[in-house]
Amino acid sequence: MQKILDAIQAGELAAVGSLPVPEHYRGITVHADEVGMFEGLPSREKDPRRSLHLDEVATPELGPGEALVAVMASAINYNTVWTSIFEPVSTFKFLERYGKLSPLAKRHDLPYHVVGSDLAGVVLRTGPGVHSWKPGDEVVAHCLSVELEGPDGHNDTMMDSEQRIWGFETNFGGLAELALVKSNQLMPKPAHLTWEEAASPGLVNSTAYRQLVSRNGAAMKQGDVVLIWGASGGLGSYATQFALNGGAIPVCVVSSKEKADIARKMGAELIIDRSAEGYRFWRDEHTQDPREWQRFGARIRELTGGEDPDIVFEHPGKETFGASVYVARRGGTIVTCASTSGFLHQYDNRYLWMNLKRIIGSHFANYRESWEANRLIDKGLIHPTVSKVYPLAETGQAALDVHHNSHQGKVGVLCLAPEEGLGVRDEAKRERHLTAINRFRGV
Ligand SMILES: NC(=O)c1ccc[n+]([C@@H]2O[C@H](COP(=O)([O-])OP(=O)(O)OC[C@H]3O[C@@H](n4cnc5c(N)ncnc54)[C@H](OP(=O)(O)O)[C@@H]3O)[C@@H](O)[C@H]2O)c1
Repeated sequence: MQKILDAIQAGELAAVGSLPVPEHYRGITVHADEVGMFEGLPSREKDPRRSLHLDEVATPELGPGEALVAVMASAINYNTVWTSIFEPVSTFKFLERYGKLSPLAKRHDLPYHVVGSDLAGVVLRTGPGVHSWKPGDEVVAHCLSVELEGPDGHNDTMMDSEQRIWGFETNFGGLAELALVKSNQLMPKPAHLTWEEAASPGLVNSTAYRQLVSRNGAAMKQGDVVLIWGASGGLGSYATQFALNGGAIPVCVVSSKEKADIARKMGAELIIDRSAEGYRFWRDEHTQDPREWQRFGARIRELTGGEDPDIVFEHPGKETFGASVYVARRGGTIVTCASTSGFLHQYDNRYLWMNLKRIIGSHFANYRESWEANRLIDKGLIHPTVSKVYPLAETGQAALDVHHNSHQGKVGVLCLAPEEGLGVRDEAKRERHLTAINRFRGV
């Protein structure tokens, strides 16, 4: 592994393909025999530091259409939090089901799960049938894994009946020194970014792009008022940038003054601090309070000069969904990709049908959408939102930060990269965007 790292560090990328592939590598895992370890505890008390392990695991055999990547850096996504607390289900169920598909897929069904759905690194080997990528290529990977053997995914690969999220519903993920991906997950690494910056947008940037910008999502247009929950978080920090870059008007919801400052640094002007305003959309566990929806809607109108959101960018779920449906404008769109606070949503349907609103479900992104989202990063139109970076051995703490919402933007993880700040190939371009790249640093 050291020889591979030395070659990458020395910029001798052509040599990487002739170096032997290590039989073992270090990766962050959960263990199948520990899925019951948190039983009876409230979610918040389930500690990823206990369930995420740094293990030495066997390098998987490379199959057709696949690539083995030396991972320089990765990032924490909320899906790793779900995996580490075994909620809402253990991800071993996904691996077991995948394993039944084919002898190749069977490789993923193991008593350990190497997690992680983002990476930046260098291609080490490609499998049969891969012609667009070669060893030595500097890459990032999006996390859509598809088989495409049936007809369903051939208009939009997210519709493939065997669609999975790599490193969550498949094994050999990115929080490791090596990772196994399908070659159609690979995209060029933006040359002006460090390894940890390049690794961080992947999952959330692609998801927010489909959810907000793509015709498969809300198809945002110039001038749209976009209400963005968690605007300084993983998804929200990209949604805010897409809204501003696309000529829309973001109304950013955050929960502290520090987070409001970050939204302002991105260029947003209309910001709601939900903690300071003290919204209580639920009176108790079973009853919502429509007067609080109204108070929230009135605040939005106050900021926009009387306009309601054309689009509500939803992901907190149960806690906010009733308010989201209420505040969307007549004919507006509520586009949702998650339910962090609970997946059984309740809303007043009269506001939906009488006002001809639409709810759209959105999930990750297809290769084309991911490519477009990565291209915007490469062009310097959208920027990484890394706030903090941990070494691989401290991934548990990194996941705990995200679990407890004590982070900003994205939390990076160094895998093979020995320190932060490495991997930049275009210093001049970096210099032009440095302030924007560092907006979330150290907040
Ligand atoms: N379907 C997909 O493809 C997909 C892709 C990515 C993520 N997701 C899911 O989307 C969710 C968010 O992911 P993320 O990466 O953005 O996470 P994140 O970095 O933790 O950001 C989420 C933000 O949401 C806000 N939030 C959390 N709970 C809230 C609540 N009860 N009410 C209002 N706001 C709340 C918080 O902001 P404030 O505290 O500042 O308000 C937080 O910063 C997760 O459940 C994740 O699994 C789904």
